[in-house]
Amino acid sequence: MPRDNNSRYKSAAKFLWQTIKPHKELYIIASLIALMLVGTGLVQARVTQSLIDNTSDGSIESIYFSLLLFVALITINGTLTYISGICVSRLAAKSGCDLKNRIAHLLLHAKYGEIVKQQAGDTLQTIGADTGVVCDFIGGDLIGLFSQFSMALGVLIYVLFINPLLVLITFVYTPIGMFFTLSLNREMNKLYPMRAEGEGRALSTLEQVLATIPVIKSFIAEKQIREKLSREYNAVYKTDIKISKWNALMQTACSSTAMVPRVVYLIFAGHMVINGNLSVGTLLSVFDLLTYVIGPTVYLLFLLNGLNRSIASINRIAKLQELPQTGNTEQKEYRGVPHIKIDNISFSYNQGTPVISNLSFEHTGAGIVAICGKSGSGKTTLLDLIAGLYKPDNGNIEIHGAVSVVTQDTYLFNDTIIENVRIAKPSATDLQVFQALHYAGADNFAVENNDFTELSGGQKQRIALARTILADAPIWLLDEPTSALDSDTEKIVAETIKNVAKGKLIIISAHRQSLIDLAQRRIDL
Ligand SMILES: Nc1ncnc2c1ncn2[C@@H]1O[C@H](COP(=O)(O)OP(=O)(O)OP(=O)(O)O)[C@@H](O)[C@H]1O
Ligand SMILES: [Mg+2]
Repeated sequence: MPRDNNSRYKSAAKFLWQTIKPHKELYIIASLIALMLVGTGLVQARVTQSLIDNTSDGSIESIYFSLLLFVALITINGTLTYISGICVSRLAAKSGCDLKNRIAHLLLHAKYGEIVKQQAGDTLQTIGADTGVVCDFIGGDLIGLFSQFSMALGVLIYVLFINPLLVLITFVYTPIGMFFTLSLNREMNKLYPMRAEGEGRALSTLEQVLATIPVIKSFIAEKQIREKLSREYNAVYKTDIKISKWNALMQTACSSTAMVPRVVYLIFAGHMVINGNLSVGTLLSVFDLLTYVIGPTVYLLFLLNGLNRSIASINRIAKLQELPQTGNTEQKEYRGVPHIKIDNISFSYNQGTPVISNLSFEHTGAGIVAICGKSGSGKTTLLDLIAGLYKPDNGNIEIHGAVSVVTQDTYLFNDTIIENVRIAKPSATDLQVFQALHYAGADNFAVENNDFTELSGGQKQRIALARTILADAPIWLLDEPTSALDSDTEKIVAETIKNVAKGKLIIISAHRQSLIDLAQRRIDL
């Protein structure tokens, strides 16, 4: 992440521009409308001035004419504001949708070794809250960038024509006020990242809590977890309190930056009216316009504040965007004999502690290869390497034929059992899915029990096997596929594996002797 302020703002500006760019027409329309509103604002001031001056002259027709103009101005203003409002909220909503899609894509294509390191809760916080912060900024403060300054410039030029000295005197305090508020803003810079990190951490804990409820319940660890959560929420709360303190101070500074020029103006313009150098109409209409000139000085501070808040979120989004990607992961169609060649591979998760060293084996054609070794010896790691989830540090893995996997832990989606199996082959008919469930020894419970949450560990394991059967790839990687099954059910599954192995290359990691006995080859780790 960029450290110094300049590159911080530069990379944030680049990110924001890239987010807005696909919908820039909405931003341009909103900005053009803002420019038109500058025009109507100026006309309104001019009408106010002539209304007041005509009232003191006693011309009744001019009053009616001015009122008519006002009605027209209100209608135009209303219409423009409405259109601009729609553009702005669309821009924010579309940018948010794009951002979320982009992050989801990057997460799905990130390297396996990197994505498993991510804290799910923190990632969810980034996709939910951080994209929200950025889009609120795009549809909120950022949209004023063009309009506020063009309005100020227009009004400033207008007032300069009326009386340049008046402008100079009126704004003599502004730089002091701005300096004061900017220094407050600097303090807040550090707090926003702290807040975003804290919230991400708390959500990660909550996510883990929800995933481990049975453990928490069985060890009566509720109090402990509650305290941990409470500590994390408290940390966020403390940062919030600090932020609100600085925010309140900044608002105070802002209001003085906005008020002082008005008072100064009234004193000097009042003197000019008494001396006959300024009409009451001009005094009042310019006073009205001061809001527009003072606006940007206050707005600038809110803009910076919003930008700093967004930068904290942008940096968190950028971290996800920087996850190394795997590129195109589509499996190639391969017709022919399944073949695998593992050539002197080594692999370590952490440098210096190799899990697999100088392993070689080759197998051509159908059959069963058993991978044996005690717990922690690297069986799952080897299967993950073959599946391409990790790349070996040294050596080479050559595979001919698509691969499908039964992982050691079963992962089910929040869907029916049928759909959980169909993920392996979206085009499969119900009949094909049932057939796969039947071969996996899972048809008896899959028919009556359609809710994936009501399955036992062994039943889930058979669902995973059914997926692999349905996918019908030439190479199967099975990571202890019967570890949760009773010996009777294991026999059914073993029988299926044996039958299937007549046409497939099956690499199976197993502790159970009954599975190891099926294999024609055995590799010990
Ligand atoms: N994501 C990971 N990051 C770091 N180390 C890991 C990771 N996954 C596994 N390991 C380590 O790699 C070694 C091999 O783990 P692996 O899961 O491959 O063993 P295994 O033979 O499948 O064990 P088991 O029979 O218990 O399933 C272990 O020492 C483990 O601690
Ligand atoms: Mg394992």
